[in-house]
Amino acid sequence: MAESVLSIRDLTVTFNTPVGPLTAVRGVDVDVRAGEIVGVVGESGSGKSVTFLAAMGLLPKRAHVTGSVVLDGQELIGASPKLLRSVRGRLLSMIFQDPLSALNPVHRVGDQIVEMLKAHQKMSQKTAFAKAIELLDIVGIPQPDERAKQYPHEFSGGMRQRVVIAMAIANNPKVLVADEPTTALDVTVQAQILEVVQRVQQTFGTAVVLITHDLGVIARVADRVNVMYAGRNVEKGSVASLFEHPSHPYTRGLLASLPQEGIERLQPISGFPPNMLAPPPGCGFAPRCPHAQQACSEVLPPLRGFLDLETACIRAEELLAEGAN
Ligand SMILES: Nc1ncnc2c1ncn2[C@@H]1O[C@H](COP(=O)(O)OP(=O)(O)O)[C@@H](O)[C@H]1O
Ligand SMILES: [Mg+2]
Repeated sequence: MAESVLSIRDLTVTFNTPVGPLTAVRGVDVDVRAGEIVGVVGESGSGKSVTFLAAMGLLPKRAHVTGSVVLDGQELIGASPKLLRSVRGRLLSMIFQDPLSALNPVHRVGDQIVEMLKAHQKMSQKTAFAKAIELLDIVGIPQPDERAKQYPHEFSGGMRQRVVIAMAIANNPKVLVADEPTTALDVTVQAQILEVVQRVQQTFGTAVVLITHDLGVIARVADRVNVMYAGRNVEKGSVASLFEHPSHPYTRGLLASLPQEGIERLQPISGFPPNMLAPPPGCGFAPRCPHAQQACSEVLPPLRGFLDLETACIRAEELLAEGAN
């Protein structure tokens, strides 16, 4: 098994809020191996973004972070701002749902990529601009030499996201974290952006963390998947295994809520994720789980090997035997 390039261990993040401490991430582990695509999936508020913002050192000061994030052998939790700045964009890059927020409206896109290149590499302006054009070509922007001279507002949403990906991979990072990169885009464009992400992974061997609330996206491109709920890992494993025999009731709920051909009505998971200011004791999903028993609300279920997955459900064996949904 390939070694992890990014290894997150027992990560916790607590925000100091005016109404009290809010622990958004409660002991999360994620491993990313060289060159693979790892999906991180869960409903809104499950702690996906906060996990990776913490890894990047991008959380506000009032966030208290514990645990470990090792990237390419270096510990990032508690690292100096200087080290974090040198890591971001060079070893670890992150892109977000809204490409506009990552682009400067008053600078030409080619110049923005040049700036990113020069921040981490010694390069002449001419070489850097040529490289920027090459990057725009790699992410599938037609006429890249013309487009490099244009401003962000001259690009469509999908084309902007391509520019953002070009910037993120400019310094050939080990890991690219894509946080809901297609959520704001229409379906056709979504598919194209996922293709770009796959092309980057295949061409440069970049490991990709793909954060999404949509298991359909994971099914299309990811190798392994990490399901999160209420700030915890609830299930992880290979994408093939997870789709073949999802073992955590939450994962099954997410699968049942996927749009499927020929099925008119989807079955969303009833209820809502917990208020993280006062999360339920025991399993965070218990209040919504059709199979919950008394013990589920009392005992914190550890993530443990189950079939070829890791599952945090104390009833996993029983539910399998019952053939439960
Ligand atoms: N800066 C912040 N201050 C306080 N709470 C936050 C902050 N950022 C996120 N949260 C809370 O942390 C939890 C997890 O958020 P997030 O990681 O953004 O979820 P996801 O990306 O899975 O949708 C949510 O309850 C959210 O309200
Ligand atoms: Mg998010």
